[in-house]
Amino acid sequence: MAATEDPTLWSDLTRPLPDWFARARFGIFIHWGAYAVPAWAEPTGALGAVPDDEWFAHNPYAEWYFNTIRIEGSPAARRHAEVYGGAPYDDFLDAWRAERFDPAAWAELFAATGASYVVPTTKHHDGIALWDAPGTGRRNTVHRGPQRDLVGAIAEAVRAAGMRFGVYYSGGLDWSVSDFPPHRSGAEVGELRPRDAAYNAYALLHVRDLVDRYGPDVLWNDINWPDAGKRDGAWSLHELFSDFYARNPDGVVNDRWGIPYADYRTSEYEAGTENEEGAWENCRGIGFSFGYNQVEDEQSTLSGPQLSRYLGDVVSRGGRLLLNVGPTAAGEIPEIQQRSLRSFGRWHTAVRDLFATATPVIDGAVAPSEEPWTRWLQTPDGELVALVDQTDRPDGVTVAVGGPWATGTARLLIGEGEATVTDGRLTVRTGALPDGPAVVAVSR
Ligand code: GLC
Repeated sequence: MAATEDPTLWSDLTRPLPDWFARARFGIFIHWGAYAVPAWAEPTGALGAVPDDEWFAHNPYAEWYFNTIRIEGSPAARRHAEVYGGAPYDDFLDAWRAERFDPAAWAELFAATGASYVVPTTKHHDGIALWDAPGTGRRNTVHRGPQRDLVGAIAEAVRAAGMRFGVYYSGGLDWSVSDFPPHRSGAEVGELRPRDAAYNAYALLHVRDLVDRYGPDVLWNDINWPDAGKRDGAWSLHELFSDFYARNPDGVVNDRWGIPYADYRTSEYEAGTENEEGAWENCRGIGFSFGYNQVEDEQSTLSGPQLSRYLGDVVSRGGRLLLNVGPTAAGEIPEIQQRSLRSFGRWHTAVRDLFATATPVIDGAVAPSEEPWTRWLQTPDGELVALVDQTDRPDGVTVAVGGPWATGTARLLIGEGEATVTDGRLTVRTGALPDGPAVVAVSR
């Protein structure tokens, strides 16, 4: 069995999930890079809902710009020729100035959403490092473009505002160290990637440098890891993880290293949902892109109440959400994203402590529904919690509630109005709420 598949090679690393991460139900992801200059993608749809053979030429992920413009005949390639005369991608690194970047203002906004942790991209697939990464020469944000250690600035501001800090790193794809043709399918993403010992050393030194400089609590790798490092011994992932945990017992690693080891699993939009077991995290943008996409409007952007329901759904199934913001090249979080985040934050901060320890309801006494939208949780002391959306339902909502709660007592936690339980029916009347569903506790 190859080390890649053999779980016993990694089993000595296994330990309980750190308490802070078990309680953390919401984090902020940041995708910021040279791709924020063109900031353009077709808002095709959600990952997992768009067929693979359509996805790549019409990629809704603006951070994939450098790949999409190399696919002949794609709308992005045509537009890149028209607007930029086919200029080399690295021109965007110099044009990216981050002149209005205010890390403290970002951190204030993130804290207002009730986020527990923040994870910025430190190197995405385009290979541009957002810090002075070893081996990158001048091709990083310290020497070109923003002329600044963006990773350090974000780490410091986020911690000053009381949140944990993690790092996203693209170990699987780096379009600057390889000259593969553009990726046109999911299968090609798996195949056409650097796997050799030289790239393993390069990437490993990057992640080690991130750990040494910024002491992150999360190592969030993407796509895969060069196969040469999937083993134990010197210059291996096993060694990286052991050292990381030794330095930071609170540290966690995600599941995108291409090995049978992870502290938690990830899913993305509607893809990978079969991985949602044990400790898991779903991630997505507020719209259909991670990197800022100027094309996205209200239509493709989740509103505050929609975000609140999205998180409610994730938490009711035992997960957490890493919600992405895509700043502009100037360094501002677009107004359309801020509006949704502020609204969501007003709702989430009121339920955050409850969510930290709540668990899915397992005894079948209640069922989630879409019409009316309802989700359920249970507290450690056996209370039931209902999340009930009343949009367009001025007369309130009645849903079935069984088990020990069928004759319980209801009390509103969010929303003004009334909540009662009679004969196995929970009735909630609050009128529509501006930022998220009504939240009701039912004691036995
Ligand atoms: C993906 C994408 C990407 C994004 C991401 C976030 O696999 O390639 O652009 O960074 O994962 O989960």
